Amino acid sequence: MIKNILIAGGAGFVGSNLALNLKQELKGCRIICFDNLIRAGSELNIPRLEDCGITFIKGDIRNLQQLLDLPKIDLIVECSAEPSVLASYDNPSYTIETNLMGTLNCLELARRDKSGFIFLSTSRVYPVEQVNNIPYEEQATRFDWLKRAEGAGYSYRGVNLDFSLNGVKSLYGATKLSSEQLVLEFADMYSFKCAINRLGVIAGPWQMGKIDQGIVGYWMARHKYRGALSYVGFDGLGKQVRDIVHVDDVCALILYQINHLDGLDRKIFNAGGGRDNSVSLLELTDMVRKITGNTIAIGSVRDNRKADIRIFIADNSAVSRETGWAPQKSIEDILVDVNQWMDTHADELKGVLT
Ligand SMILES: NC(=O)c1ccc[n+]([C@@H]2O[C@H](COP(=O)([O-])OP(=O)(O)OC[C@H]3O[C@@H](n4cnc5c(N)ncnc54)[C@H](O)[C@@H]3O)[C@@H](O)[C@H]2O)c1
Repeated sequence: MIKNILIAGGAGFVGSNLALNLKQELKGCRIICFDNLIRAGSELNIPRLEDCGITFIKGDIRNLQQLLDLPKIDLIVECSAEPSVLASYDNPSYTIETNLMGTLNCLELARRDKSGFIFLSTSRVYPVEQVNNIPYEEQATRFDWLKRAEGAGYSYRGVNLDFSLNGVKSLYGATKLSSEQLVLEFADMYSFKCAINRLGVIAGPWQMGKIDQGIVGYWMARHKYRGALSYVGFDGLGKQVRDIVHVDDVCALILYQINHLDGLDRKIFNAGGGRDNSVSLLELTDMVRKITGNTIAIGSVRDNRKADIRIFIADNSAVSRETGWAPQKSIEDILVDVNQWMDTHADELKGVLT
């Protein structure tokens, strides 16, 4: 019987949306959001949470004692992170201390309380060079994998769990993969249940998109507030492709996992928007222009940044087979929701998104 749920990073984009979703769906559970508010804009989520009866605690997962001071926790969803690939190169210590050592501290809490543990990992665990080596072609508005592309761990449909994990994946990806290993070891050693989601690009309302993370929100905000924007890397064409999943779909998956954790124990899933929800930056620009009614000049930077990926699409076959989950919301749905959120909350968001 789950009474207390801890969402680490609970004032962040996914954490806050999840907290509100779980409060609604799991009546009678106490939801505790624990966050150090390092992400600019996360503080805006606190009233949203508290107004719905969710407990917010300002705390840092790098501090084990702060976690151990919490009451008995039945389930932990680990959503706290430095989620930016680029930031992980600028400040490796923070990324390692939060994404790896902080997760270890959350696991110590799970060990104390035998809490269930759901870990938000990333498609960035897959090595950059190998992903970029999947055969592709250049089309009018995007790069795309060849229809007949088929190899170890990938097909035209996307990257699956058999894809190699060997190779450089960015410090961000490396901390997440290392944490996955710790989650599995702790769950096995200390007899608690766990599930791991390797998520792709997530988007939706309450994402404080910035230049290095949260691309959909960032793209939309630049169009609305008319800021500078560039296509960076891969010759500056804007043809790189990602699959995008709505945060509501991510919440639905996690809710399912919470309700079926016994059967899903130790499972790792790739979960993303999938091929139907894949888009290039060029295509995204077109959609954002139509929705906002604004057109801005977009610059071009030819050179890649470290760990840039040309195309990533998740193969959702395994997660769909085992849970019945599939993304319900299209890219259009996502953009409409984000646009509406930015309009409704224009005043409070101005300082964060401009
Ligand atoms: N957003 C995406 O596209 C995406 C994709 C794949 C995986 N993920 C993963 O999903 C999870 C949630 O990401 P998000 O998009 O909500 O990011 P986010 O930055 O919006 O939220 C993370 C939260 O963690 C908090 N935090 C950071 N360091 C902390 C620390 N030391 N102690 C306590 N709190 C701390 C931040 O203040 C922030 O509120 C992360 O683990 C991320 O790696 C996100």
